[in-house]
Amino acid sequence: MDRVIDARGVSYEYPDTTRAIADVDLTVAAGERVAVLGANGSGKSTLQLVLGGLVEPTAGTVTYFGETTDVEAVRERLGVLLQDPEDYLFNTTVREDIEYGPAQLDVPRETATARIDALADELGLEELLDRPPFRLSGGEKQRAAVASVLAFNPDVLLLDEPLGAVDIHYRERILELLERHDGTTIVFTPSVDLVPLLAERVVLVGQDGSIVADDGVREVLTDRSLLEKHGLRPPAVVRLFEGIVPTDEIPLTVPEGRDRLRRADRSVDQY
Ligand SMILES: Nc1ncnc2c1ncn2[C@@H]1O[C@H](COP(=O)(O)OP(=O)(O)OP(=O)(O)O)[C@@H](O)[C@H]1O
Ligand SMILES: [Mg+2]
Repeated sequence: MDRVIDARGVSYEYPDTTRAIADVDLTVAAGERVAVLGANGSGKSTLQLVLGGLVEPTAGTVTYFGETTDVEAVRERLGVLLQDPEDYLFNTTVREDIEYGPAQLDVPRETATARIDALADELGLEELLDRPPFRLSGGEKQRAAVASVLAFNPDVLLLDEPLGAVDIHYRERILELLERHDGTTIVFTPSVDLVPLLAERVVLVGQDGSIVADDGVREVLTDRSLLEKHGLRPPAVVRLFEGIVPTDEIPLTVPEGRDRLRRADRSVDQY
């Protein structure tokens, strides 16, 4: 297994002594897609900051690509999207913000422009590229921030709630874009409903900032008591089928639920 991120005994305490993550052991393999879930304040964003090397753990180590604990040596391979998109948008125009990453990496200008135009097209940013970022709506800012992280083609994406403010249309576009980045390792913080659309593994963070579950999507999303203990609920479609079909057959997405109902309907017809 190619280890992309290997956190051992990692804790982080803010300067005011708030212990936000506690003794985390987490290994993420190349190409994996891991969803990080947890209640408000459990430490998901702090975990992303530490994994992304934006803050140094106060205990433990993070090893990148099985090679180094020096994040500066691999910084350009990590695309980190923080929860607040405004943290990315600091240039005079949206275009300059999106160009920033490729320019830092000396991507040839033509390649960068082609990539930015394609992202602008996918994310509906064409009309916004020449505007100052602070004049965008919340969802537009989030789309621009996603574009600025994807523009430099990182090997690893650490995305803290990348879809929180975007509407359904762009949510699907972003999911498609991420899906297409086959081979890219993704650690993201989604709402429970979005987990099955992109992740194959879930890491659940408890209120004390430790990892309380690290398991498959089905195992975590169908465990109502585990989720409720940590301030979450299974997706609506899971709650709908819970207790009606065996746990290992509970649909995790609406299309799966619809198929399941169609099949049930046909079996009723047979009587
Ligand atoms: N700059 C800071 N200084 C001190 N404590 C902080 C700071 N930022 C966050 N915290 C605290 O660290 C803990 C973890 O916060 P974090 O933002 O990582 O949670 P989260 O799981 O991302 O929450 P949410 O679901 O609301 O995004 C919380 O107790 C929070 O109050
Ligand atoms: Mg957060």
